[in-house]
Amino acid sequence: MRSLLLLSLLVFAPLALAAPAGPPYETRAEHDPNGIGKFYLGREIAHVMGHQAAGWLERPEREAEERTDLLVEAMQLSPGEVVADIGAGSGYFSWRMAKAVAPEGKVLAVEIQQEMLDLLQRNMARHDVHNVVSVLGTTTDPKLPAHSVDTILMVDVYHEFDQPFEMAQALVASLKKGGRIVLVEFRAEDPQVNIKRVHKMSEAQAKAEFAIFPELRWESTLSVLPQQHILIFRKP
Ligand SMILES: C[S@@+](CC[C@H](N)C(=O)[O-])C[C@H]1O[C@@H](n2cnc3c(N)ncnc32)[C@H](O)[C@@H]1O
Repeated sequence: MRSLLLLSLLVFAPLALAAPAGPPYETRAEHDPNGIGKFYLGREIAHVMGHQAAGWLERPEREAEERTDLLVEAMQLSPGEVVADIGAGSGYFSWRMAKAVAPEGKVLAVEIQQEMLDLLQRNMARHDVHNVVSVLGTTTDPKLPAHSVDTILMVDVYHEFDQPFEMAQALVASLKKGGRIVLVEFRAEDPQVNIKRVHKMSEAQAKAEFAIFPELRWESTLSVLPQQHILIFRKP
């Protein structure tokens, strides 16, 4: 019996030690009521915005408040690009980007809420846009083919991912060589930005969360928007 125990210790202990550590998530009982109580590298993850609030994404004053026009301009999209709009919501950015990459390019609008995709497709028809493809993803998988995307845009969504490591890993895999991730989040460092804490991110936090992926390089942080950072990460 003792020798059997010794044998199993010898066989299994090194295996357990060699097993890769999972993503560094932790849960805390005390947390922000706007967050889910799950933390990633010290940052609390926010609740997902429900489709019932989609009207807020389409509010007429959004362009002036967030200068969404400057964001689309700053991306410098080229005709023919394949763009993935992750957490596309009502498609506010999808149709604007679809026009910039037309006629050969397309936008893959990825969502976890089918109701958002239904609304999005109605909005695409209203704008007479035909190069936006809906993709129903999961919280760990955006369902994008490997090495297929030139530009990934995430506006005000990454902080809601309840599995940010798995999502980012899948997104990096979906990028073509030379492709980029454009991450847009409200600035946590700026007290003037009047948004709930868990819906903001600092530049340092965003860089730390993407530094985990050796295939990716931080390229630049653009400061052209009144309230949000634009961080660009490239797969060289
Ligand atoms: C605050 S909205 C932003 C929508 C859009 N990006 C915009 O700026 O107009 C966030 C959206 O991300 C979606 N979302 C959250 N987690 C997601 C995930 N893991 N994959 C895809 N979409 C996700 C939510 O369903 C929600 O519609």
